[in-house]
Amino acid sequence: MQTVRDIEALRQAVADLRAAGGPIALVPTMGALHAGHMALVAEARRRASHVVASIFVNPMQFAANEDLSTYPRREAGDAKMLDEEGCALLWAPDVGAMYPAGFASAVRVGGVGEGLDGAARPGHFEGVATVVLKLLNQVRPDVALFGEKDYQQLAVIRRMVRDLDLAVEIVGVPTQRDADGLALSSRNAYLTDEERRAARALPRALGEAAGAIRAGGAVAPALAAAVDKLAKAGFDPIDYVELRDAETLAPLDALDRPARLLAAARIGRTRLIDNLPVAPA
Ligand code: PAF
Repeated sequence: MQTVRDIEALRQAVADLRAAGGPIALVPTMGALHAGHMALVAEARRRASHVVASIFVNPMQFAANEDLSTYPRREAGDAKMLDEEGCALLWAPDVGAMYPAGFASAVRVGGVGEGLDGAARPGHFEGVATVVLKLLNQVRPDVALFGEKDYQQLAVIRRMVRDLDLAVEIVGVPTQRDADGLALSSRNAYLTDEERRAARALPRALGEAAGAIRAGGAVAPALAAAVDKLAKAGFDPIDYVELRDAETLAPLDALDRPARLLAAARIGRTRLIDNLPVAPA
């Protein structure tokens, strides 16, 4: 696997892959890779002849009070994992290569980008959409893959790609979980052992609420029960536990179409998010 760090070298390396023929897939990441990312790469390999991965901890998607400086960085280990999984090219720019002096543009996606994490993390999706548009323009892949763990992010990216006529297929890959149900996330590395045990309440509370709603139970009490379970497990604050339309992310108070149950809450200093599909019977 080749690693490139400036845009000229990236263009040349991508041109070489194009010349070799066959579709190119992009797997954008912020590094600190785990089995969830490897599932993206494996799916990318099934769909394309060449897989390009990017590692860039994007300052634009972190608010001033968030974990940019402590976000786990371990590029050497990441590169080894990507190489073993069959990645052809690693795009690992530094901040100056991604945002040269004078950088002044931003992409704002309304609708699906508002509410939920859009409300809890002002500016976050603007940072995500801007960097993902840049990555798509830089690599020009045929297909780009994102985890469903960041479900609202995936919706924002799909909307942006449709709205801005980008010629790329966006593929969502189901969330990978540990044996106890916790969704894999680079931020799980922040959890103490005690917090890690308590964090199991998040997938459990969502699973129980999803089960109750699927079984025909009323939505509001199911969501309230999930909030209660999270609070009892020590989550504080609980930013949201909500049922939304699976595509538009419009709020739902009854399960009358394919839906997604989404939650975000903090345990200790770590903010965790998770979501589950909820389809009407
Ligand atoms: O999901 C992530 O890791 C990031 O938000 C992404 C899509 C790589 C953009 O920085």
